[in-house]
Amino acid sequence: MNIIEPVDASSFDKAFPIQPFTIRHAFAGNPLFALPRIVDLVRELPRDQIEYNSGKAEIDQDPNTVPFIDLKPEEVVHRIETCGAWMVLKRVEMHPAYRALLHEALLSVARGRGNASLREAGFEDVRGFLFVSSPNSTTPFHIDSEDNFFIHIHGEKFFNIYDNSDRSIASEETIEHSIAKHRNVSYDKKFDAKCMAYRLLPGDGVFVPYQWPHWVRTANSHSISLAITWKTKDVQRRNDILMFNSWLRSVGLPQPAPGKRPALDVAKLAVFRTLQVATAPLRKFETVRRVLRAIALGRRANYFINTGKARAA
Ligand SMILES: [Fe+2]
Repeated sequence: MNIIEPVDASSFDKAFPIQPFTIRHAFAGNPLFALPRIVDLVRELPRDQIEYNSGKAEIDQDPNTVPFIDLKPEEVVHRIETCGAWMVLKRVEMHPAYRALLHEALLSVARGRGNASLREAGFEDVRGFLFVSSPNSTTPFHIDSEDNFFIHIHGEKFFNIYDNSDRSIASEETIEHSIAKHRNVSYDKKFDAKCMAYRLLPGDGVFVPYQWPHWVRTANSHSISLAITWKTKDVQRRNDILMFNSWLRSVGLPQPAPGKRPALDVAKLAVFRTLQVATAPLRKFETVRRVLRAIALGRRANYFINTGKARAA
């Protein structure tokens, strides 16, 4: 089998990249996802690429009140079966072994679709996010601004996805907020009836399209999953316009959604990307990233870097 394959062979033709569909993958027994190896990865990643808190979060969780876990990151992984935590290791592509694995997986999809390279298939800005969660943990309702092959490796997980074209679930303002401020968005019980629910066991996965809201919960054992994400050029463009729109909204100038006023989009994109290029060299330093994050998102924006003694669960 290919490293990633759709369960229904016609899914890539019928659904990709605009609808979710189930996949199978070949990574369930890979030693890179054994807990001792993940402890090594925790030690190697920059601290601000590691986020963790209590798994006892609400579906509709305010990120300002999420209960923390008073343990070091390595201890969280060592004790994941019992410590009641939710953890994500971000940007695992910074590590060569994980980067090779991500590229290998996406290349198998690209070649299966007749493309010779990741670039030809539109798989740009490839990133990996490794999730390690205790039993009965919840990932709150949120929106991610990238496409994602969600690969499930250990335990049992329930993945709940909602249509992103339904503005009663996520308004334009909510979508802007999710990309510029915080990924978590409000959940209403009325959304329950619109849920597409997937039960994932090791070897299973799901394609999560760009900005489709979702929340996740683990079952009765610890869980390990990998999000393999990428951004096409169109997605990068849309994200940049949404970021700029969010800033304009914050100064009292709400904007039409991307695509509604194409000429205005071009102008906004030029300004945003000029600013991005000017600040890019500074972002290599973790301290500068913290300061920029605080300027853009407010004083509490670096909350996830603290171990959280003040709000231990
Ligand atoms: Fe997500």
